[in-house]
Amino acid sequence: MHTRICDTFGIDLPIFAFSHCRDVVAAVSRAGGLGVLGALAFSPEQLDIELNWIDEHVDGKPYGVDVVMPASYAGAGELDPDRMADQLQSMIPEQHRHWLDKVLTEYGVPPLTAEDDRPEGLLGWVHEKGREQVEIALAHPISLLANALGPPPKDVVDLAHAHDLQVAALCGSVQQAERQVNQGVDVVVAQGTEAGGHTGDVASIVLWPEVVDAVAPAPVLAAGGIGSGRQIAAALALGCDGVWTGSIWLTTAESDMSPLVVDKLLHASSRDTVRSRSWTGKPARMLRTDWTEIWERDDSPGTLPMPLQYMLISEAQRRIAKYQVKELTTMPVGQIVGRMQKVRPVKDVIFDLVEEYVEATERLNRLVNV
Ligand SMILES: Cc1cc2nc3c(=O)[nH]c(=O)nc-3n(C[C@H](O)[C@H](O)[C@H](O)COP(=O)(O)O)c2cc1C
Repeated sequence: MHTRICDTFGIDLPIFAFSHCRDVVAAVSRAGGLGVLGALAFSPEQLDIELNWIDEHVDGKPYGVDVVMPASYAGAGELDPDRMADQLQSMIPEQHRHWLDKVLTEYGVPPLTAEDDRPEGLLGWVHEKGREQVEIALAHPISLLANALGPPPKDVVDLAHAHDLQVAALCGSVQQAERQVNQGVDVVVAQGTEAGGHTGDVASIVLWPEVVDAVAPAPVLAAGGIGSGRQIAAALALGCDGVWTGSIWLTTAESDMSPLVVDKLLHASSRDTVRSRSWTGKPARMLRTDWTEIWERDDSPGTLPMPLQYMLISEAQRRIAKYQVKELTTMPVGQIVGRMQKVRPVKDVIFDLVEEYVEATERLNRLVNV
């Protein structure tokens, strides 16, 4: 399974693993792949703590950091850095707040108490926040800076290159891939609609070779629907240099998902996800539950643009998680969730991916040699 991307990063396996959980990131890198920590949910201080932990637990193996600096969002370029949170909060209509409160009352979800942390709800997808995270990340020995939702701004690409880092970005179409390469992105992650999280509408098996051909000779990682070595073999057969995975790590032993979420993931089929704007305001694939359904009801005021939607829902999500409200519990995850049926350690998942890949390629070789 050795491809040129293995030489670029000094890794044994061209398997990249996105996770918000530091234990998963370190375990994947130690097992020969490349773990990438999603920075989105962390404050700059917390991100530094997570990265210090990874530095101590990764045994000197390479790892990466992923930030979210979207190509477009509400308030872009108009926000005062000192009053950003208030400015954005004032853009959320009262009608939306009332409706969401009414729905939570219908489901019997109690409010948070005085002792509970109130989520800020702003998170990293405002460029000002993303830049702070990039600064923290660059102070650690990372090998890769990745960005979701479009190419990172040109100055961020240049800064990463000045630190000798490879820059990756996720795309869901050929046009986005071309834009990324023109902006200096080194590694294109072509993510099919099957993927968990923000995703476009083109399927992996169509998108991967389209992107490979459009950006050649730039290396392409295949994302969206990878859960077995057979799927890795398919991605490499279609010209990709490796794979970028997300969903399959949610149900590993190292993952920090709550038992309720893990149980829901283990019991979901590949038809139990939906692309919904109800999480962040941009289409993201997640478990279809009452949470995604309520936003489609006749009385729904509709979703808000990024970053307002997550600011609107963050306290509701905290309440749903605290009181373990099963019907409303959801999680970004891809269609591969249908094959995630057991909790296993990261190294076992990697071992199986490699073993299945070898079996798949041997089977194909036998077909060539008949
Ligand atoms: C729970 C979850 C959260 C995600 N959050 C991000 C994110 O913050 N940044 C990002 O670049 N990709 C994010 N993704 C997408 C992954 O990086 C990856 O592209 C995707 O999971 C690949 O498809 P798969 O889910 O079929 O493996 C997320 C995916 C999941 C499942």
